[in-house]
Amino acid sequence: MTNKIWVAEAPSNIALIKYMGKTEKSGNRPTNGSLSYSLDHLRTRVELSLRPDGQAGDQWAPLNRQGWQPLTLSTKGQERFLKHLQMLKSEFGFSAGFLVQSANNFPSDCGLASSASSFAALTLAGVRAIREMQGKMILTPNEISILSRKGSGSSCRSLFEGFSLWRDEGAERIDLGIGKLWHQVILVDDSLKAVSSSEAHLRVASSDLFNGRVERAERRLKNLIALMREKKWRQSFEICWQEFWDMHALFETSNPAFGYMRSGSLDVLNFVREQVWGKLGDGPLVTMDAGANVHLLYREDQADLARMMGRQLGEKWQVISNLS
Ligand code: DP6
Repeated sequence: MTNKIWVAEAPSNIALIKYMGKTEKSGNRPTNGSLSYSLDHLRTRVELSLRPDGQAGDQWAPLNRQGWQPLTLSTKGQERFLKHLQMLKSEFGFSAGFLVQSANNFPSDCGLASSASSFAALTLAGVRAIREMQGKMILTPNEISILSRKGSGSSCRSLFEGFSLWRDEGAERIDLGIGKLWHQVILVDDSLKAVSSSEAHLRVASSDLFNGRVERAERRLKNLIALMREKKWRQSFEICWQEFWDMHALFETSNPAFGYMRSGSLDVLNFVREQVWGKLGDGPLVTMDAGANVHLLYREDQADLARMMGRQLGEKWQVISNLS
């Protein structure tokens, strides 16, 4: 029995073209392609070790390590996490039990989803541990992405730096010719979501607006990739804006309807559209996940604007950012 610890870290990611809707009940296959940017400053760390008692079942515990905030996972959350590890073990014919410990470098109760970074980090650590003990080659990031998708769809885009494109099985890195982006998330609501994103994927199919959704998302995906490569920032902003409103409109028109938009979200959105884009003719890309918080992405040369907006929005809300 080895007492080795296998460690892996993975970033969160924010989608500009959204994964919303699945083609099958299991396996997290998306109805449409999605495009995301990896948020390197919002990370999960997973440490795996074999259970000292040699038992076969896996266990989860929060990771206590300096610089990391121990995760709080509900019983359901722990079950889902460990089920994914079990899937990896079955895939490679491995049966020994693991102790899984995980932590985020951001508070878990601040309203930021961590399933993408958690499942990506668990998949990385699991594959490393199992393959090493079996004396087999480590898999490529694309292969690991396919496995991670099975645990949580959006996590398959958390294996790469910069932009990731996910069409079907797994994601891949995509070069859009854009350097590093500054990111801010404006935390307008830290309460727990009443409807999980897994549930949202099922419900949106009941919306009348789901007709044509796949075509709209695919068209935006193609256009956004081309526009970003041509450095057409304003048009890129417009596509991202339309895309997250499209997703939130699906939520609000599902049967039964649900929603994440809060008055604070609208305040931030209006501020960015009217006071920033409206007055300066320039600004950040804007998007929202299945939650109330607003994500802003700035070009590298917009650092001053980002700092100024961070100060202004920070007077009212908590702002988490990768700006120094
Ligand atoms: C709104 O990946 O959380 O963030 O596959 O059921 O785990 P499961 O869903 P999840 O869905 C994320 C949806 C989204 C949009 C996106 O990230 O593309």
